[in-house]
Amino acid sequence: MEILHKPDDVHQWVRAQRRSGAVIGLVPTMGFFHDGHLSLMRLAAKHVDTVVVSLFVNPTQFGPNEDLDRYPRDFERDMLMLRREEVAAVFVPRPELMYPPGFQTEVQVLHLTKNLCGRTRPNHFAGVATVVTKLFNIVQPDVAVFGEKDYQQLAVIRRMVADLNLPVRVIGGPIVREDDGLAMSSRNANLDRSHRVSALSLSTGLTLARELYQKGERDAAAIGAAVQRHILSFPHTAIDYVSLIDSKSLEPVQEADNDTRLALAVHIDGKVRLIDNGLLSKPPQER
Ligand code: PAF
Repeated sequence: MEILHKPDDVHQWVRAQRRSGAVIGLVPTMGFFHDGHLSLMRLAAKHVDTVVVSLFVNPTQFGPNEDLDRYPRDFERDMLMLRREEVAAVFVPRPELMYPPGFQTEVQVLHLTKNLCGRTRPNHFAGVATVVTKLFNIVQPDVAVFGEKDYQQLAVIRRMVADLNLPVRVIGGPIVREDDGLAMSSRNANLDRSHRVSALSLSTGLTLARELYQKGERDAAAIGAAVQRHILSFPHTAIDYVSLIDSKSLEPVQEADNDTRLALAVHIDGKVRLIDNGLLSKPPQER
C-alpha cells in the first residue's frame, strides 16, 4: 500500500493507475478506523479496481469550541488496519499542504446545510464541501463512498456533485452498529463507561420511533416528543436535535410516511456529540 502525503504525488500515482485502465474509488475519512470505515472501503472495492483512502482530520469543518483537538487519532493503528484491506493507496496530507498560506476559496451548498447539523454547526458543511471538492480534484476518483451515518453530509455531497457537474459517482454505505446498537463512530472512543450507556439513548430512541410508527402513529410531533423524553431519561444527555425529516429533501415533516427518517444529534456529558438516523418504516428490530 502506498502512503502518499503530497497532492501532486497522489495526482501522478492515480494517473499511472488510470493509464493501466483502473477505475478509481475514493473513501474520504478522518481516520481512527472502525468497522464502519472498513465497510465503506469494502463497498468501494466492489465497484472499482483501485481503492484510495484519504485520512485527514479537516480543521475547517470544526467550529471554534468543537472537538478538533480531542478528535481521536492513531496513525500506526490506522495503517495496520488499512494494510489488511483492499486499499491500494492512502493519502495523508498535512494541513498546510491542503490550506497553504493565502488559501481563500470555499464551496457552499446553500439550502440543505441550514437545517439539522447546520443549525448548530454553521460552517461545518462549507468545510466538508470544500475539502471533499479538493479531495475529488486531487484524486479524481470515478466513485466515492460516504457513510449514511452522516446522512446530511451524504445529501450535501450528492447535491454538490450534481450542481457542479463533478464526474464522480457517489455511493452511500449503510450504518454499521456495535452489538448493542450504538452506531459506530470514531468519537465513541471518547465515551467512558457511564457515557457509553447514555450513548445508547440514540439507537434505542430510533427503535422507539419505529415501534410507534409500526403501531400506527403518524404524528411527527408526537413521535419526536416521545423520542426526546426517552433520550432525556438517560443521564448526561443534551439534545441538539430530534427531527423527523423527509429522506430526500431533508425537510421536517408533520405527518410521517414510509420515506420519513428520524435524525438525531445528542451531546453526551457536553463533550461528545453523537449523531444517528434511520427510516421509521424499517421494522424496529432491524438496523
Ligand atoms: O465524514 C468524514 O469523515 C468527513 O466529514 C470527510 C467526509 C472525510 C470530510 O472531511
